[in-house]
Amino acid sequence: MSTNKSTKLSDYVEYPFLIPSIYLDFDICVDLVEVQSSMIIEPKLKESSRLILQGNQIKLLSISINGKELNSEEYYNSPDELIIFNPPISKFELKLISQIDPFRNTSLEGLYLSSGMLTTQCEAEGFRSICYHPDRPDILSNFTVRVEADRDLYPILLSNGNKKYSGNLNNNRHEIVWDDPFPKPSYLFALVAGKLNTVSDKYVTKSGRLIDIKIYVETGDEKYTQHAITSLKKAMKWDEDVYGLEYDLDEYKIVAVRHFNMGAMENKGLNIFNSKLVLADAETATDDELERIESVIAHEYFHNWTGNRITCRDWFQLSLKEGLTVFRDQSFTSDLHNSGIKRIEDVSFLRNFQFTEDKGPTSHAVKPKEYVAIDNFYTTTIYEKGAELIRMLELLLGKEKFMRGINFYIKTFDGSAATTEDFINSLIKGAYLDKANCTFNLTKFLNWYYERGTPKVYVNQSWDSKKSILNVSFEQKINSDKSNENIEMVIPILYSCYGREKGGEPIVEDKLFILDKNKKNLQINALNGEKDFPVLSIFRRFSSPVIWETDLSIDDYLFLFLNDNDCFSRWDSGQILMREIIKNNINKHVNYSLEYSFINAIKETIKSLEINDSLLLSNLLTIPGLAELEPLFEKVDPINIYKESLNFQVLIGNKIHQELRVLSENILVNINQQWPMGRGERKLIGTIWSYLALAGDEGVKKDCVEAIVSSSMTMARSALRALKPLDSPETEEASNLFYDLWKENPVVLDSWFAYEASRPHKQGINVIEKLLAHSKFDWKAPNAIRAVIGGFSKNIESFHSIDGQGYLFMAEKIIEVDKINPITASRMVKIFSKWKTYIDKNKEEMYKSILKINKANISSNTREVVELILK
Ligand code: BES
Ligand code: ZN
Repeated sequence: MSTNKSTKLSDYVEYPFLIPSIYLDFDICVDLVEVQSSMIIEPKLKESSRLILQGNQIKLLSISINGKELNSEEYYNSPDELIIFNPPISKFELKLISQIDPFRNTSLEGLYLSSGMLTTQCEAEGFRSICYHPDRPDILSNFTVRVEADRDLYPILLSNGNKKYSGNLNNNRHEIVWDDPFPKPSYLFALVAGKLNTVSDKYVTKSGRLIDIKIYVETGDEKYTQHAITSLKKAMKWDEDVYGLEYDLDEYKIVAVRHFNMGAMENKGLNIFNSKLVLADAETATDDELERIESVIAHEYFHNWTGNRITCRDWFQLSLKEGLTVFRDQSFTSDLHNSGIKRIEDVSFLRNFQFTEDKGPTSHAVKPKEYVAIDNFYTTTIYEKGAELIRMLELLLGKEKFMRGINFYIKTFDGSAATTEDFINSLIKGAYLDKANCTFNLTKFLNWYYERGTPKVYVNQSWDSKKSILNVSFEQKINSDKSNENIEMVIPILYSCYGREKGGEPIVEDKLFILDKNKKNLQINALNGEKDFPVLSIFRRFSSPVIWETDLSIDDYLFLFLNDNDCFSRWDSGQILMREIIKNNINKHVNYSLEYSFINAIKETIKSLEINDSLLLSNLLTIPGLAELEPLFEKVDPINIYKESLNFQVLIGNKIHQELRVLSENILVNINQQWPMGRGERKLIGTIWSYLALAGDEGVKKDCVEAIVSSSMTMARSALRALKPLDSPETEEASNLFYDLWKENPVVLDSWFAYEASRPHKQGINVIEKLLAHSKFDWKAPNAIRAVIGGFSKNIESFHSIDGQGYLFMAEKIIEVDKINPITASRMVKIFSKWKTYIDKNKEEMYKSILKINKANISSNTREVVELILK
């Protein structure tokens, strides 16, 4: 019995009115805010059409058209809707006065309070909680905003665009007027009012325009803003150099907010960030977090063009801005740092999260056809798979054509709201200026947007030693909902080939094969008279987001693990071997010879790589995540998989103990360098600590406790991680030290909450209850909730305990969170997505807990996800 109403892509109709400009006036009072909105409205049609505006808990005080109050027969309103029956048929002004209550708004959507400051979050549909409005992304308006408030309580008053005026009023009040010259949809509106301190900087664009950069933070946090500012300037420069895109306003403002559902938001000229993604230096954030912050700052900045100047026609086009912008931020990080390593990181994320999503009940296409709550569609499929689709386009077209295509898209759609099809069509048009040369199969490529699920590719080889030809057959299988149709995807496959005797030199360099039929063969010839079956390296750089099955042998993978010159493929070969070993161990078919060969391969790798590439080495040594191990089994026993993956690390730690010890001493000299330098060495030390601590190395345990007070958060957190599975006195000591050091810093303290919630305590649930009742725990901060409750889901033995208590506890907490913050709850409930894949006992218990949530009085956001999970 679904009570949920869905929105369908096929129902899209243009809005019958334009709203070229909107004037907003905010009067911030003691316990409410009065909002006046004056919209200039232009009917598109000749005949009169009802004007329907959306709202969410709006109290309407007055309504007039062209200065004349409407009488009650002329309109209908409820807190959620305003309908004007017979609006004028030519341009008119609609003026509304209404009241909202941001002080009791816990949803973190619309206008709300965070640590004494008022702030907004309007994407996707939060603007309707501020005033009645169509609140859809294809309505673009020029916004002028006046804000008035008490001078002491709210000294800083911000909105989008450039400052036009500021002045004092009676009664200790003041006002500021902001004007944004670029038409924008309502989801990009932002307002901030509060006691904030400003850190300023400047940037000069390529064409010589001076931009004021301003970061707004709470008192005491000024010292943590340098990394964000440096990152922003790098992003501005990169977008000029690589895409030829400059910033367009006079000011770029970023506000750090403690209570925020997401990571960050690209509001035009006034980005709002979760404080954990702004406030950071090497003492408070790990190297990975610094890189993440750099990329999120870049991501929101890049949206200024891909998202803001060109926006989405409707929310089905979400990947148009998010997929493209993730692709852009990934390329940025790749250019700035190490492209091979970045690819490994991105693929690992995609496989652990997007592939998992795509196997489960919330699987959907990059361009879905239907949704209930749009907030539920900010998924790793829209984002990361969306980015992979753009990456395939770059590979298929070549960098030069791709850039030409993107520039053409931007020129064509600047200032408008576009669709994914607009994007692909204009990209191809711009890439192939001369149509006759266009070999691109647009129709087939679009299947990537319309089909859900991860395609599978089967690869079989045969070797003709007489002719020195390697024949490779490829077959693609798409898990389509349209099983009666023959869906074919365009799957770009980068490959190369190695001669076994040639000591690791490729005999065929990177080439591109395009699998665009269900079955297709590839002939690799002219191998210089090669006599031995060569080693094939395919899907280099992870050239398409698919799963592949090949007839490569264990020896082939061992060879590639040692010799492949593509970072991703080399790493992937190691991952395949490790998955194989762990799987055999779980199935009680220990393959000793494989273990032996793999350990030798690791030793050889350590010898050949140690000095020059710690970052690659630490990645090669990292074991596959649990989400990558689970699909190897028909019925998943989560505790067993977790334990065996620990056993595997103990094994490695024991077998290469000596090598790891020596290695860690050799790289120690470099670990004090400043990020991004020294990052590889720090990561490698962390990896080594994890292995050695598990292998029972007492010296390492002591080193770890000492590292807690070091000036590098990377080292401190690596130490915590290494001690975590042990549940030893050192674990306790390290955790307490960390807490004492950071108890006054809420951003850092969240990582302690997550640590405590996820480490294997004897009395799991009691510990979680204590954390939730901790004086430093803030129920209204999603970061804190995710740390403790999300952390608990990683506490494998407690969460998955077969009495079902862990699941039940989780269900109760999700129901509680849902009451105050449905967006956060509906994301957390996905923890239960995989229930059907577990062994019977866990499956039954998890099912009961999901039913419990389903029976509770929950939001429609959470209900949508729960119903999908139960289906
Ligand atoms: N536009 C989103 C933020 C957003 C999404 C706000 C959904 C409200 C609802 C922003 O550009 C974004 O994508 N942020 C990501 C981080 C990014 C680097 C992928 C986020 O917040 O997680
Ligand atoms: Zn984004």
